[in-house]
Amino acid sequence: MSDLSRDDRLPADAPVHRDLQEAVSNIRSSTDPASVTTDDVDAARATVVCIANQKGGVGKTTTTVSLAAAIAALGARVLLVDLDPQGNATTGFGLRADEDDPSTYGVLVDSLPIVEAAVPSGIDGLDVVRSSLDLAGAEVELVPAFSRELRLQKAVEAVRSSYDVIFVDCPPSLGLLTINALVAADQIIVPIQCEYYALEGLGQLMRTVQLVGDSLNRKLELGGVVLTMYDGRTNLAQQVVDEVRAYFGKRAYATVIPRTVRLSEAPSFGQPITVFDPQSRGSRAYQRLAREVAERLALPVDIPAENPLDRLLSGGDPLPEYEPTDPTAPVVPPDAGLPVDEEEHT
Ligand SMILES: Nc1ncnc2c1ncn2[C@@H]1O[C@H](COP(=O)(O)OP(=O)(O)OP(=O)(O)O)[C@@H](O)[C@H]1O
Ligand SMILES: [Mg+2]
Repeated sequence: MSDLSRDDRLPADAPVHRDLQEAVSNIRSSTDPASVTTDDVDAARATVVCIANQKGGVGKTTTTVSLAAAIAALGARVLLVDLDPQGNATTGFGLRADEDDPSTYGVLVDSLPIVEAAVPSGIDGLDVVRSSLDLAGAEVELVPAFSRELRLQKAVEAVRSSYDVIFVDCPPSLGLLTINALVAADQIIVPIQCEYYALEGLGQLMRTVQLVGDSLNRKLELGGVVLTMYDGRTNLAQQVVDEVRAYFGKRAYATVIPRTVRLSEAPSFGQPITVFDPQSRGSRAYQRLAREVAERLALPVDIPAENPLDRLLSGGDPLPEYEPTDPTAPVVPPDAGLPVDEEEHT
């Protein structure tokens, strides 16, 4: 157990992510003025959003599962594609895929149509393409295959008219599976854990996004970054929030996901947090994030007015908008509302 009273500030000589600011400034973002507007959105075609970060355990799957469930609850038609051989998004809905079951492996390797691989998640409006362990072999099996980076893109194209949004949960690597997701996606959402070295590797991720955007998928934009596992008891968490907001500005979602016990318990019950404990802080935070994401994607759903209690329990008041200028400058107002401490409610 860490000593929560100590000052956990990153040391002044912590690895400096000099290239991150440049990498971020080169990225096309959904918050750019020239980006997609409500008028441009083809309501008949799903937006494909991949949730990626090559760093392990940062909350990719928790975010994909919770966000997909919360956006389906708003009335959107949602598909979740589990692109991680670990299959955590699959089991997160209490599902599993045996060897012969239709799964992401079949879609990528055997060109199985997604419409034959998607199964109901148990939540209204939300289907899942399950993953299985054999997906781990796909990365190797696809190496000699023709247009191996385009497999997922081709597969999702065929079901774009059946859904409003398609989420893809990526594995913790920048291998062929994640490249397939980036090629298929309109947007990437990057979860960042409020922990030591949170920014490490983000420059590389942003450069990969830019590379894919320049060569294989010109539509690809940074949808946003979401801070996860925020623990209000540590100075470190606050410092990571400040740093990420300094680098990413408006591209960081206002909602910060708190670290809560209920969020870590939900997967073992095979339920997204919005079903497992709808009133918990974690659920409220993801519902709030869902509203932000639905708004940015201009999804064809009625976004209900925010319940002030949700705001209070999930992450305080939204931050005023600002543009980052100097990453070393203090850009977060001192009274910016952030999640309350863990103890009062899990
Ligand atoms: N906000 C949170 N509060 C508490 N626990 C969390 C939270 N978010 C995620 N967790 C837990 O942290 C662990 C890692 O989360 P998750 O599986 O979502 O990360 P990941 O990035 O998908 O991991 P991987 O890289 O292995 O795919 C899981 O046990 C999950 O239940
Ligand atoms: Mg995962």
